[in-house]
Amino acid sequence: MRVKDKSIIVTGSGGGIGEGIAHRLAEEGAKVIVNDIAADRGEKVAAAIRAKGGQATFFAADVTQSADVKALVETAVQRHGKLDVVVNNAGWTHRNRPALEVSEEEFDRVYAINMKSIYLSTIHAVPAFRANKGGVFINIASTAGVRPRPGLTWYNGSKGAVITTSKSLAAELGPDNIRVNCINPVFNPDTGLSAEFAGGPVDEARRAKFLATIPLGRFSTALDVANACLYLASDEAAFISGVCIEVDGARCV
Ligand SMILES: NC(=O)c1ccc[n+]([C@@H]2O[C@H](COP(=O)([O-])OP(=O)(O)OC[C@H]3O[C@@H](n4cnc5c(N)ncnc54)[C@H](O)[C@@H]3O)[C@@H](O)[C@H]2O)c1
Repeated sequence: MRVKDKSIIVTGSGGGIGEGIAHRLAEEGAKVIVNDIAADRGEKVAAAIRAKGGQATFFAADVTQSADVKALVETAVQRHGKLDVVVNNAGWTHRNRPALEVSEEEFDRVYAINMKSIYLSTIHAVPAFRANKGGVFINIASTAGVRPRPGLTWYNGSKGAVITTSKSLAAELGPDNIRVNCINPVFNPDTGLSAEFAGGPVDEARRAKFLATIPLGRFSTALDVANACLYLASDEAAFISGVCIEVDGARCV
């Protein structure tokens, strides 16, 4: 049990990569708050974890809204007596297309969900971490933030901001025993965002073109990301802060 009794929030864990992270952390003994804006899906994930013998409850919150994030943190502290780890996983992208064709509304939404969420999480979770004499942020960024490709420009930039902000926070919050790290997954064709990243259905032609760029010869899975997350959440990573782990089969080399 690598994260036994740790109190962990996973945002956007009603599906996709976040769902995999919530399951994996619960398997290793964490008490998980499954968060999502979609209550029906989030409730199902929490129930599925409990059905396997894990500890999880759902809390609906929109990570772009300060009052919601405050309530999310307070709920974790009330339910578990403390907060140890926040996994900022909720994310969104505009559809893959030329930068000049992305509307201002879409741009604002990308930055609100991917980046403002990190600000709000920091504002509200750090006091709880300080009360607990430490804590861990794990921010799910993307290979897009370090090796941007055409078509996802505003999304790529938002993830670059997540990475730089995480490193800055690692430097600033280290004296509080708060660790801040990122995980950069490469493309996963099986999540809610896959078709948006690909610019259409993930058909054989799109798969083959992308796969050719990944030396290990396959896409990432939610479990790949969850295993990296488990390490960063655990005490095995007690001296690891300010890093970005690429979970990308050497794509970024
Ligand atoms: N799928 C990929 O190829 C890939 C690659 C690299 C990085 N990522 C990142 O991984 C993370 C998870 O993405 P995914 O692919 O699993 O997508 P997904 O759409 O399957 O899951 C994202 C979840 O976040 C939730 N969400 C969206 N807005 C929210 C909000 N305002 N408040 C709370 N929850 C909200 C959604 O309801 C959804 O359940 C994102 O940060 C994404 O940028 C994904």
